[in-house]
Amino acid sequence: MITTRKATIKDLKELQAFHKRLSLFEAQFTNEFNLGWAYGEKGRKYFEKLLKGRNAFALIAQEGGKMIGYAAASVKKTTFRRRNKLAVLDNLFIADDYRGKGVGTMLVKEIEKKLKERKVPRLQLFAVRANERAIDFYKKNGFSEFMSILETDL
Ligand SMILES: CC(C)(COP(=O)(O)OP(=O)(O)OC[C@H]1O[C@@H](n2cnc3c(N)ncnc32)[C@H](O)[C@@H]1OP(=O)(O)O)[C@@H](O)C(=O)NCCC(=O)NCCS
Repeated sequence: MITTRKATIKDLKELQAFHKRLSLFEAQFTNEFNLGWAYGEKGRKYFEKLLKGRNAFALIAQEGGKMIGYAAASVKKTTFRRRNKLAVLDNLFIADDYRGKGVGTMLVKEIEKKLKERKVPRLQLFAVRANERAIDFYKKNGFSEFMSILETDL
């Protein structure tokens, strides 16, 4: 049976490893991301804050005791929006063998439930434009394109 649970500091190493797998997956689309980030000082601090802090959390999907995916979210304060709390889905990754079985949907729904309990009214995420399967997945889960991020090399 596949279940979800809140990640704790004991999961740090596995989350770093899964984040690395996500970075390697995204490397097929772009070389903009630092593949060593999760294991560097900044990455480790991000995960420690995620696992210990009050404004961020991660959920792990597991089968038996084995981690098969995770999602991370953080809550930000905005100053210019009508509703000033905004959550960001920082990462979502499901192990290859478990994709297409509803695990990603399960994690997104659970993240949304936990955010609603905290009275957060909106959830945002960034996806690499070329990762069309992920964008399709998010659209099936109720997201729509709201803003575009445009970048250029200088
Ligand atoms: C994108 C991702 C999180 C979706 O989770 P999932 O558990 O595979 O998705 P679900 O089973 O809940 O939903 C299935 C839908 O997801 C989409 N999807 C995206 N990648 C898929 C994959 N590799 N296999 C199957 N479905 C995939 C399809 O639209 C699918 O719908 P369909 O069954 O009608 O074709 C997961 O496939 C994944 O981790 N991919 C690699 C990393 C990634 O892209 N992360 C998002 C970064 S922004």
